[in-house]
Amino acid sequence: TWTTAAFVEDAIREIRAKVGNKRVLLALSGGVDSSTLAFLLHKAIGDQLTCVFIDQGFMRKYEPERLLKLFQEQFHIPVEYVNARDRFLTALAGVTDPEEKRRIIGHEFIRVFEEESKRLGPFDYLAQGTLYPDVIESADTNVDPQTGERVAVKIKSHHNVGGLPKDLRFKLVEPLRKLFKDEVRKVGRSIGLPEEIVQRHPFPGPGLAIRILGEITAERLKILRDADLIVRQEINQRGLYHQYWQAFAVLLPIKSVGVMGDQRTYAYPIVLRIITSEDGMTADWARVPYDVLEVISNRIVNEVKGVNRVVYDITSKPPGTIEWE
Ligand code: XMP
Repeated sequence: TWTTAAFVEDAIREIRAKVGNKRVLLALSGGVDSSTLAFLLHKAIGDQLTCVFIDQGFMRKYEPERLLKLFQEQFHIPVEYVNARDRFLTALAGVTDPEEKRRIIGHEFIRVFEEESKRLGPFDYLAQGTLYPDVIESADTNVDPQTGERVAVKIKSHHNVGGLPKDLRFKLVEPLRKLFKDEVRKVGRSIGLPEEIVQRHPFPGPGLAIRILGEITAERLKILRDADLIVRQEINQRGLYHQYWQAFAVLLPIKSVGVMGDQRTYAYPIVLRIITSEDGMTADWARVPYDVLEVISNRIVNEVKGVNRVVYDITSKPPGTIEWE
């Protein structure tokens, strides 16, 4: 029978046998896969592992800080923090098309990753949180025809993006490759990952960048981050988090008229997108209790400067998508 303890033990033995005294690079994203991966590798090979966390500036409020704190203070796993916020904002200046945003973010991520791997390297191996379904999907494309070994041609993590340049084709360490998502969660839990990582809602690689429609600016990012935090706080506080597949805020690049005190306002609307789903392929808008919606709306309009209206998205998927871009 499969137990997490036996899995962890086998994985550690296997990693040591494969890696020997070589160095391994890992891109940490904050999700359960890369977090579990980092923990296993650190346990197996200690400081032969280098974890790098590239902060694109599109994560939810407090998440980069929490991730660093968890790894460094609780797990005692060093993490190379790369603040690439300005760089991503600059690369995206004036860009409004959703696919163009994704392309630029993917491209920029690969460039930063490449630079960091040169700065911190050289590395022999790249650790990836490949799961069993990913192995099946990429069965023939990721195998080196000469050695039969799986090689990295893409960076997985949560940035399902862009190809790696030819000279950066590391050999892979993929200790999670026989697991399904629910098994990774069990392993993650057994090694002490907090529930907020183990049970985290899906979060897109481009993050908040695709939840600001139109141009991404520092001001809009701040507004969205603050509004999004309120959505999460109210949902968490009422124990509703696990009833939904995802729950988040979207910022629209238009302004409408409102009134606060006796002042006319002219500001952005925030859309609440709260959905139920089994697998993300289809989804329904969640019947969130009115009093919860009321509190979220009041808090956002009162606490987030730059917002004067909150609307609730009542579109299922299909025909809508979960994200707005
Ligand atoms: P849609 O919007 O297509 O979303 O209904 C389905 C699921 O995929 C997530 N999503 C993404 N994840 N990069 C990602 O890593 C992306 O560009 C991206 N776009 C959507 C979305 O959050 C939902 O869980």
